[in-house]
Amino acid sequence: MPRPIKKAVFPVGGMGTRFLPATKATPKEMLTVVDKPLIQYAVEEARAAGIEEFIFVTGRGKTAIEDHFDHSAELEALLAARGQRDPEALGMLRLPPGAVAYTRQQEPLGLGHAVWCARHLVGDEPFAVLLADELVLAETPCLTQLVSLYERVDGCVFALAEVPREQTNRYGIVDIAKDDGQIVEIKGMIEKPEPAQAPSTTSIIGRYILQPSVFAELGRQERGVGGEIQLTDSLARLLGATPFHGLRFKGQRFDCGSKAGFLKATIAYAMQRPDLREELTAFFRDIRGAD
Ligand code: UTP
Repeated sequence: MPRPIKKAVFPVGGMGTRFLPATKATPKEMLTVVDKPLIQYAVEEARAAGIEEFIFVTGRGKTAIEDHFDHSAELEALLAARGQRDPEALGMLRLPPGAVAYTRQQEPLGLGHAVWCARHLVGDEPFAVLLADELVLAETPCLTQLVSLYERVDGCVFALAEVPREQTNRYGIVDIAKDDGQIVEIKGMIEKPEPAQAPSTTSIIGRYILQPSVFAELGRQERGVGGEIQLTDSLARLLGATPFHGLRFKGQRFDCGSKAGFLKATIAYAMQRPDLREELTAFFRDIRGAD
Protein backbone atom coordinates (compact mmCIF):
# COMPACT_ATOMS: atom_id res chain seq x y z
CA MET A 1 0.00 0.00 0.00
CA PRO A 2 1.57 3.37 -0.98
CA ARG A 3 2.15 5.88 1.80
CA PRO A 4 -0.95 8.08 2.34
CA ILE A 5 -1.12 11.66 1.04
CA LYS A 6 -1.70 13.90 4.03
CA LYS A 7 0.00 17.14 2.98
CA ALA A 8 -0.78 19.53 0.15
CA VAL A 9 1.33 22.37 -1.19
CA PHE A 10 -0.35 25.43 -2.69
CA PRO A 11 2.17 27.52 -4.64
CA VAL A 12 0.74 31.04 -4.55
CA GLY A 13 3.90 33.07 -5.04
CA GLY A 14 3.41 34.04 -8.70
CA MET A 15 2.96 37.63 -9.87
CA GLY A 16 -0.22 37.06 -11.89
CA THR A 17 0.85 39.51 -14.59
CA ARG A 18 -1.81 38.32 -17.04
CA PHE A 19 -4.44 39.72 -14.69
CA LEU A 20 -3.07 43.19 -14.20
CA PRO A 21 -4.32 45.61 -13.02
CA ALA A 22 -6.56 43.34 -10.84
CA THR A 23 -3.51 41.59 -9.39
CA LYS A 24 -1.46 44.68 -8.57
CA ALA A 25 -2.54 44.68 -4.92
CA THR A 26 -4.70 41.52 -4.80
CA PRO A 27 -3.21 38.05 -5.18
CA LYS A 28 -4.38 36.25 -8.32
CA GLU A 29 -5.44 33.33 -6.12
CA MET A 30 -7.88 35.65 -4.31
CA LEU A 31 -9.78 36.47 -7.52
CA THR A 32 -13.35 35.40 -7.04
CA VAL A 33 -15.36 32.91 -9.05
CA VAL A 34 -18.99 33.73 -8.14
CA ASP A 35 -18.40 34.41 -4.42
CA LYS A 36 -15.39 32.32 -3.48
CA PRO A 37 -11.70 33.00 -4.11
CA LEU A 38 -9.84 30.57 -6.36
CA ILE A 39 -7.61 29.43 -3.49
CA GLN A 40 -10.60 28.34 -1.41
CA TYR A 41 -11.82 26.04 -4.20
CA ALA A 42 -8.36 24.40 -4.19
CA VAL A 43 -8.25 24.06 -0.40
CA GLU A 44 -11.76 22.56 -0.32
CA GLU A 45 -10.74 20.09 -3.04
CA ALA A 46 -7.70 19.09 -0.98
CA ARG A 47 -9.76 18.68 2.17
CA ALA A 48 -12.25 16.47 0.33
CA ALA A 49 -9.34 14.26 -0.74
CA GLY A 50 -8.25 13.66 2.87
CA ILE A 51 -5.49 16.27 3.13
CA GLU A 52 -4.76 17.21 6.74
CA GLU A 53 -1.88 19.71 6.40
CA PHE A 54 -2.06 22.73 4.12
CA ILE A 55 1.20 24.37 3.08
CA PHE A 56 1.10 27.69 1.26
CA VAL A 57 4.16 29.02 -0.56
CA THR A 58 3.46 32.73 -0.65
CA GLY A 59 5.30 35.88 -1.60
CA ARG A 60 5.17 39.61 -1.20
CA GLY A 61 1.66 41.09 -1.28
CA LYS A 62 -0.02 37.77 -0.51
CA THR A 63 -1.11 38.36 3.08
CA ALA A 64 -4.78 38.43 2.01
CA ILE A 65 -4.49 34.66 1.58
CA GLU A 66 -3.36 34.18 5.19
CA ASP A 67 -6.14 36.46 6.42
CA HIS A 68 -8.68 34.57 4.35
CA PHE A 69 -8.03 31.28 6.15
CA ASP A 70 -7.66 32.86 9.57
CA HIS A 71 -10.27 33.05 12.29
CA SER A 72 -12.00 36.45 12.13
CA ALA A 73 -13.30 37.10 15.63
CA GLU A 74 -14.76 40.50 14.72
CA LEU A 75 -16.69 39.22 11.70
CA GLU A 76 -17.92 36.15 13.55
CA ALA A 77 -19.14 38.27 16.48
CA LEU A 78 -21.03 40.48 14.04
CA LEU A 79 -22.61 37.48 12.30
CA ALA A 80 -23.53 35.93 15.66
CA ALA A 81 -25.18 39.21 16.71
CA ARG A 82 -27.27 38.92 13.54
CA GLY A 83 -28.22 35.35 14.39
CA GLN A 84 -25.84 33.72 11.89
CA ARG A 85 -23.78 31.53 14.18
CA ASP A 86 -22.27 29.11 11.68
CA PRO A 87 -19.65 30.77 9.45
CA GLU A 88 -19.25 27.54 7.44
CA ALA A 89 -22.92 27.81 6.49
CA LEU A 90 -21.94 31.07 4.77
CA GLY A 91 -19.17 29.25 2.93
CA MET A 92 -16.43 30.55 5.22
CA LEU A 93 -13.80 27.88 5.54
CA ARG A 94 -11.88 27.46 8.78
CA LEU A 95 -8.84 25.22 8.80
CA PRO A 96 -7.88 23.66 12.14
CA PRO A 97 -5.20 25.57 14.08
CA GLY A 98 -1.78 24.08 13.46
CA ALA A 99 -2.87 22.44 10.21
CA VAL A 100 -1.80 25.43 8.10
CA ALA A 101 1.74 26.56 7.34
CA TYR A 102 2.98 29.50 5.29
CA THR A 103 6.42 29.94 3.87
CA ARG A 104 7.68 32.72 1.62
CA GLN A 105 9.23 32.10 -1.75
CA GLN A 106 11.04 35.46 -1.47
CA GLU A 107 11.51 35.69 -5.25
CA PRO A 108 9.08 34.31 -7.85
CA LEU A 109 11.66 32.14 -9.63
CA GLY A 110 9.15 29.67 -11.00
CA LEU A 111 6.79 26.89 -9.96
CA GLY A 112 9.63 24.42 -9.35
CA HIS A 113 11.29 26.87 -7.00
CA ALA A 114 7.99 27.46 -5.17
CA VAL A 115 7.53 23.71 -4.57
CA TRP A 116 11.17 23.39 -3.43
CA CYS A 117 10.53 26.12 -0.83
CA ALA A 118 8.08 23.71 0.86
CA ARG A 119 10.69 20.93 1.28
CA HIS A 120 11.16 21.23 5.05
CA LEU A 121 7.45 21.50 5.69
CA VAL A 122 6.70 18.45 3.54
CA GLY A 123 9.62 16.34 4.81
CA ASP A 124 10.12 12.80 3.58
CA GLU A 125 6.63 11.87 2.46
CA PRO A 126 4.57 11.93 -0.74
CA PHE A 127 2.45 15.05 -1.13
CA ALA A 128 -0.06 16.79 -3.38
CA VAL A 129 0.42 20.07 -5.26
CA LEU A 130 -2.59 22.13 -6.30
CA LEU A 131 -2.42 25.23 -8.46
CA ALA A 132 -5.30 27.44 -7.46
CA ASP A 133 -5.58 29.01 -10.90
CA GLU A 134 -6.80 25.70 -12.34
CA LEU A 135 -10.40 24.90 -11.41
CA VAL A 136 -11.95 21.51 -12.04
CA LEU A 137 -15.72 21.22 -11.93
CA ALA A 138 -16.36 17.55 -11.19
CA GLU A 139 -18.74 15.25 -9.38
CA THR A 140 -15.77 13.55 -7.69
CA PRO A 141 -13.17 16.24 -6.97
CA CYS A 142 -10.13 15.98 -9.22
CA LEU A 143 -7.61 15.36 -6.41
CA THR A 144 -9.82 12.59 -4.98
CA GLN A 145 -9.69 10.90 -8.41
CA LEU A 146 -5.87 11.22 -8.43
CA VAL A 147 -5.56 9.80 -4.91
CA SER A 148 -7.65 6.75 -5.93
CA LEU A 149 -5.29 6.08 -8.82
CA TYR A 150 -2.22 6.71 -6.65
CA GLU A 151 -3.41 4.11 -4.14
CA ARG A 152 -3.26 1.54 -6.96
CA VAL A 153 -0.07 2.59 -8.75
CA ASP A 154 2.11 4.52 -6.25
CA GLY A 155 4.83 6.92 -7.54
CA CYS A 156 3.87 10.24 -9.13
CA VAL A 157 0.38 10.88 -10.48
CA PHE A 158 -0.75 13.80 -12.65
CA ALA A 159 -4.08 15.17 -13.84
CA LEU A 160 -4.11 15.31 -17.64
CA ALA A 161 -6.18 17.24 -20.14
CA GLU A 162 -6.07 17.69 -23.91
CA VAL A 163 -5.10 21.12 -25.24
CA PRO A 164 -5.22 22.49 -28.80
CA ARG A 165 -1.88 21.88 -30.53
CA GLU A 166 -1.32 25.62 -31.01
CA GLN A 167 -1.39 26.01 -27.20
CA THR A 168 1.24 23.41 -26.22
CA ASN A 169 3.68 26.25 -25.53
CA ARG A 170 1.59 27.29 -22.52
CA TYR A 171 1.66 23.97 -20.64
CA GLY A 172 3.70 20.99 -19.47
CA ILE A 173 3.18 18.28 -22.12
CA VAL A 174 3.63 14.53 -21.62
CA ASP A 175 5.17 11.89 -23.86
CA ILE A 176 2.89 8.87 -23.68
CA ALA A 177 4.14 5.26 -23.35
CA LYS A 178 0.75 3.59 -22.89
CA ASP A 179 -2.78 4.94 -22.87
CA ASP A 180 -6.02 3.10 -22.13
CA GLY A 181 -8.09 6.23 -22.68
CA GLN A 182 -8.19 7.03 -18.97
CA ILE A 183 -4.88 6.03 -17.37
CA VAL A 184 -1.69 7.04 -19.12
CA GLU A 185 1.81 5.68 -18.53
CA ILE A 186 4.20 8.58 -19.01
CA LYS A 187 7.66 8.18 -20.53
CA GLY A 188 8.61 11.83 -20.83
CA MET A 189 7.50 15.38 -20.14
CA ILE A 190 8.51 18.75 -21.45
CA GLU A 191 7.56 22.25 -20.32
CA LYS A 192 5.91 24.59 -22.85
CA PRO A 193 7.13 22.93 -26.09
CA GLU A 194 6.45 24.67 -29.38
CA PRO A 195 3.58 22.91 -31.22
CA ALA A 196 5.93 21.28 -33.75
CA GLN A 197 8.13 19.81 -31.01
CA ALA A 198 5.34 18.71 -28.64
CA PRO A 199 5.33 14.90 -28.16
CA SER A 200 1.53 14.99 -27.71
CA THR A 201 -1.26 17.45 -27.02
CA THR A 202 -1.86 16.03 -23.53
CA SER A 203 -0.99 18.51 -20.82
CA ILE A 204 -0.43 18.25 -17.10
CA ILE A 205 -2.90 20.49 -15.34
CA GLY A 206 -2.37 21.93 -11.88
CA ARG A 207 -2.93 18.79 -9.78
CA TYR A 208 -0.02 16.55 -8.87
CA ILE A 209 0.86 13.78 -6.45
CA LEU A 210 4.63 13.79 -6.02
CA GLN A 211 7.33 11.85 -4.24
CA PRO A 212 9.76 13.70 -1.93
CA SER A 213 12.67 12.63 -4.18
CA VAL A 214 11.68 15.58 -6.40
CA PHE A 215 13.20 17.99 -3.85
CA ALA A 216 16.76 16.81 -4.54
CA GLU A 217 16.24 17.47 -8.26
CA LEU A 218 14.64 20.87 -7.60
CA GLY A 219 17.55 21.71 -5.31
CA ARG A 220 19.79 21.93 -8.37
CA GLN A 221 17.92 25.17 -9.17
CA GLU A 222 18.37 24.76 -12.91
CA ARG A 223 16.56 27.34 -15.00
CA GLY A 224 14.35 26.16 -17.83
CA VAL A 225 12.01 27.74 -20.34
CA GLY A 226 11.33 31.43 -19.65
CA GLY A 227 14.35 31.53 -17.29
CA GLU A 228 12.20 29.96 -14.54
CA ILE A 229 12.95 26.95 -12.32
CA GLN A 230 10.40 24.55 -13.78
CA LEU A 231 8.76 21.72 -11.87
CA THR A 232 8.41 19.71 -15.09
CA ASP A 233 12.19 19.67 -15.71
CA SER A 234 12.93 18.13 -12.30
CA LEU A 235 10.11 15.64 -12.65
CA ALA A 236 11.44 14.58 -16.06
CA ARG A 237 14.73 13.64 -14.38
CA LEU A 238 12.88 11.30 -11.99
CA LEU A 239 11.38 9.30 -14.86
CA GLY A 240 12.45 5.69 -14.64
CA ALA A 241 13.23 5.91 -10.92
CA THR A 242 9.56 6.02 -9.87
CA PRO A 243 6.32 5.16 -11.71
CA PHE A 244 4.69 8.10 -13.55
CA HIS A 245 0.99 7.91 -14.31
CA GLY A 246 -1.46 10.43 -15.65
CA LEU A 247 -5.21 10.40 -15.26
CA ARG A 248 -7.67 11.75 -17.77
CA PHE A 249 -9.93 12.79 -14.93
CA LYS A 250 -13.69 13.13 -15.15
CA GLY A 251 -14.68 16.78 -14.99
CA GLN A 252 -14.40 20.13 -16.71
CA ARG A 253 -11.17 22.03 -16.29
CA PHE A 254 -10.82 25.81 -16.43
CA ASP A 255 -7.48 27.56 -16.84
CA CYS A 256 -8.27 30.56 -14.65
CA GLY A 257 -4.78 31.98 -15.23
CA SER A 258 -6.17 33.19 -18.58
CA LYS A 259 -8.96 35.72 -18.80
CA ALA A 260 -11.13 33.63 -21.10
CA GLY A 261 -10.72 30.59 -18.83
CA PHE A 262 -11.56 32.63 -15.76
CA LEU A 263 -14.72 34.03 -17.38
CA LYS A 264 -15.82 30.58 -18.56
CA ALA A 265 -15.33 29.25 -15.01
CA THR A 266 -17.38 32.10 -13.59
CA ILE A 267 -20.26 31.30 -15.93
CA ALA A 268 -20.04 27.52 -15.43
CA TYR A 269 -19.91 27.76 -11.63
CA ALA A 270 -22.70 30.35 -11.54
CA MET A 271 -24.88 28.09 -13.69
CA GLN A 272 -24.44 25.34 -11.05
CA ARG A 273 -26.07 27.61 -8.49
CA PRO A 274 -29.84 27.35 -8.08
CA ASP A 275 -30.02 30.98 -6.86
CA LEU A 276 -28.37 32.30 -10.05
CA ARG A 277 -29.14 29.87 -12.85
CA GLU A 278 -32.56 31.17 -13.83
CA GLU A 279 -31.61 34.84 -13.94
CA LEU A 280 -28.45 34.13 -15.90
CA THR A 281 -30.24 31.91 -18.42
CA ALA A 282 -32.69 34.76 -19.09
CA PHE A 283 -29.78 37.19 -19.41
CA PHE A 284 -27.96 34.96 -21.96
CA ARG A 285 -31.21 34.68 -23.94
CA ASP A 286 -31.55 38.48 -23.92
CA ILE A 287 -28.02 39.23 -25.06
CA ARG A 288 -28.23 36.60 -27.80
CA GLY A 289 -31.52 38.14 -28.93
CA ALA A 290 -29.86 41.58 -29.04
CA ASP A 291 -27.25 40.39 -31.63
P1 UTP B 1 1.69 30.95 -13.51
O1 UTP B 1 2.58 30.26 -14.46
O2 UTP B 1 0.27 31.09 -13.91
O3 UTP B 1 2.36 32.35 -13.17
O4 UTP B 1 1.78 30.17 -12.13
P2 UTP B 1 1.80 33.62 -12.43
O5 UTP B 1 2.96 34.45 -12.07
O6 UTP B 1 0.89 33.25 -11.29
O7 UTP B 1 0.87 34.36 -13.48
P3 UTP B 1 1.22 35.19 -14.81
O8 UTP B 1 1.66 34.16 -15.83
O9 UTP B 1 2.28 36.21 -14.50
O10 UTP B 1 -0.08 35.84 -15.16
C1 UTP B 1 1.02 29.02 -11.82
C2 UTP B 1 0.92 28.88 -10.32
O11 UTP B 1 2.24 28.78 -9.76
C3 UTP B 1 2.46 29.79 -8.79
C4 UTP B 1 1.42 30.87 -9.10
O12 UTP B 1 1.11 31.62 -7.94
C5 UTP B 1 0.26 30.08 -9.65
O13 UTP B 1 -0.60 29.62 -8.62
N1 UTP B 1 3.83 30.30 -8.87
C6 UTP B 1 4.37 30.64 -10.07
C7 UTP B 1 4.56 30.45 -7.71
O14 UTP B 1 4.08 30.15 -6.59
N2 UTP B 1 5.82 30.96 -7.80
C8 UTP B 1 6.39 31.30 -8.98
O15 UTP B 1 7.57 31.73 -8.98
C9 UTP B 1 5.65 31.14 -10.14
